[in-house]
Amino acid sequence: MSPASVLFVCLGNICRSPTAEGVFRALVESRGLADSIHVDSAGTSNWHIGEPPDPRAIEAARLRGIDLTDLRGRQAIARDFSEFDYVIAMDHENYDNLSRLATPEQATKLHLFLEFAEGASEIEVPDPYFGGAGGFPHVLDLIENASEGLLNHIITSPLEKGGQRGI
Ligand code: 4NP
Repeated sequence: MSPASVLFVCLGNICRSPTAEGVFRALVESRGLADSIHVDSAGTSNWHIGEPPDPRAIEAARLRGIDLTDLRGRQAIARDFSEFDYVIAMDHENYDNLSRLATPEQATKLHLFLEFAEGASEIEVPDPYFGGAGGFPHVLDLIENASEGLLNHIITSPLEKGGQRGI
């Protein structure tokens, strides 16, 4: 398959998007596609730049065999829309903030993550930061489901002219 790149984005880049980065990377590796699909994550805020993921996110992912400890927070920037084929927002607030970084042509790269989740009754990955640890397994369930759908989408949709893929 032709190479693709995916950027997951939430607010702080310490809970949802690093979890998505870790889950999606593990899925890509399990399918033997690590050389073809580049994965990264970022936050729309600058609040946690350089920080590791939240300890609750690290622990919830560890229980599913996924190591997030090497990840560090960074802020999403306009250049991400020229460098990534897919910019995947966790919720509407982050989607709206990201849309301000994109040109009209690049806006086709922006998606809500749960658009790719089969049978999901939610369209946003809820922010687990202010809740208890119980929010994190639910976030993982949503992310695992949507990751399968996103990867299938990437594998089955041909690159459009200019490197963009449609949905
Ligand atoms: P995330 O969660 O966007 O999933 O990383 C949050 C992390 C930190 C804050 C809010 C949400 N915060 O207010 O610092």
